[in-house]
Amino acid sequence: MTTDVSNREAMLAKIEELEAEHAKAVAGGGEKYVARHRARGKLTARERIELLVDEGSAFLELQPLIGWGSDFAVGGSMVTGIGVVEGVECLIVANDPTVKGGSLNPNSLKKSFRAAEIAARNGIPTINLTESGGADLPTQKDIFIPGGQGFRDLTRASAAKRPTISVVFGNSTAGGAYVPGMSDYVIMVKEAAKVFLAGPPLVKMATGEDTDDESLGGAEMHSRVSGSSDFLAVDERDAIRIARRVVARLNWRKRGPVPAPTFAEPELDPDGLLDLIPTDLKEPFDPREAILRIVDGISPDNAVAFDEFKPLYGSSLCVGWARLHGYEIGILANARGVLMSEEAQKAAQFIQLANQKDTPLLFLHNTTGYMVGTDYEQGGIIKHGAQMINAVSNSKVPHLTVIMGASYGAGNYGMNGRAYDPRFLFTWPSAKSAVMGPAQLAGVMEIVARQSAESKGEVFDAGGFAGVRAMVEGMIEEQSLPFFLSGLGYDDGVIDPRDTRTVLGICLSVLANQPVEGEMNFGVFRL
Ligand code: COA
Repeated sequence: MTTDVSNREAMLAKIEELEAEHAKAVAGGGEKYVARHRARGKLTARERIELLVDEGSAFLELQPLIGWGSDFAVGGSMVTGIGVVEGVECLIVANDPTVKGGSLNPNSLKKSFRAAEIAARNGIPTINLTESGGADLPTQKDIFIPGGQGFRDLTRASAAKRPTISVVFGNSTAGGAYVPGMSDYVIMVKEAAKVFLAGPPLVKMATGEDTDDESLGGAEMHSRVSGSSDFLAVDERDAIRIARRVVARLNWRKRGPVPAPTFAEPELDPDGLLDLIPTDLKEPFDPREAILRIVDGISPDNAVAFDEFKPLYGSSLCVGWARLHGYEIGILANARGVLMSEEAQKAAQFIQLANQKDTPLLFLHNTTGYMVGTDYEQGGIIKHGAQMINAVSNSKVPHLTVIMGASYGAGNYGMNGRAYDPRFLFTWPSAKSAVMGPAQLAGVMEIVARQSAESKGEVFDAGGFAGVRAMVEGMIEEQSLPFFLSGLGYDDGVIDPRDTRTVLGICLSVLANQPVEGEMNFGVFRL
């Protein structure tokens, strides 16, 4: 493939924007609050994570852009992700006390629930790095009742033999007290942790008792008197050291697929992914160009990088087998935007094959949806699409999804979009996702408005509608962009395409904590 300067420039510009948005999440509550936090002798959420994970290991951050476009700070006042601690992949959830005292707003809740879901589905331990003002009080109506799920998830994790560890660095009061309360292992930092159901002023009001923070919920008290803490740490670094020792003693064993001991780097240079995505998503691109830049290359025990299946049938969808960081995977990638009956049936067959041989699936999106029109309807496009959606819905092997380009209409569903429970879903900065394209949506609205006017015997004001059309197109375009969708929590992150191989490699290693077992029972396939 030749270098496409304009595609590359457009992608690099989007990556630059992405970095600027990530920088906002990294900045937390901003300079003033970070400086105040440090002046108190405290580490930031990200520094705590950095000290916790194994030196030189990667941290796969999740949903850093949640809250983008909302009234809340980007990042949901917490950092979540998967890090390797003493060789064990753990979900790490760290409150960011520099953002509104680490209090939890509706975005924080969404983000923490998704993190807990990822830990549950991939069967990994959880480490909470706690310092939070609890519920964001002005939005309590949106979080109080659903918020109970956080404590429920912790105790269910424990019952499922997924240990939970809580390191308390500061405030963890009221409902927040149940984070350490429900955890299997609790570490509290001396003279910093505050874990009580009600602080001194509330106790005074409720019972008239005069008391202080330390007697009510200090680290010494909980470690020596109440027994709510298992370890008393002298400072933050000591607490992190103890947390690492706890993980080292979990006797953790991965029970899933074992990767090939060696693997080759991709056949094609991952840097070429920058050239691949056309600036206009209506132009097709060959997904094999992406696949060969992401999957393992040829090696003595991997004779072909990508074994395409059924290449002559339903050629708008490319499917086949490959390895990624030594893990066997099946891939489904859109080749020419639209999905027709052949593609849908090919996908349904391929997903069953992956389940038959217990192999995870990777979905690479660039689809405008299922084909419309009389011939296709008469040819059964609905029932064939339904076959594909049935296969995706009932498949039990882990699914990974990357939205490279377009992801419109029911194509988003058939290709295992967010509603279909992918273990992980990442988006490229070039992606666009909506019920349909902005021009098509505005055009449909115009036709509907025209018909409605005519049915009432009114004259349709086409000139007047032009303004509405432009406004709708602009709005839909904005709402289909990756930052907007990431802000709503519809992905696990927007990534630089060049990082796709590494990100997917981590995901495959994480899901290998549990056995991969396919399913041969699907719903009724309407044939
Ligand atoms: N909801 C909404 N905003 C909160 C908040 C909460 N629960 N807790 C803190 N904030 C805000 C503060 O209003 C302040 O905002 P501002 O800087 O825009 O004025 C900012 O977060 C920092 O709070 P501050 O009190 O200055 O920080 P601190 O580090 O000295 O103390 C806490 C942090 C969390 C110990 C303290 O703010 C506190 O006790 N909050 C209430 C805790 C609580 O009772 N929560 C209810 C649990 S259900």
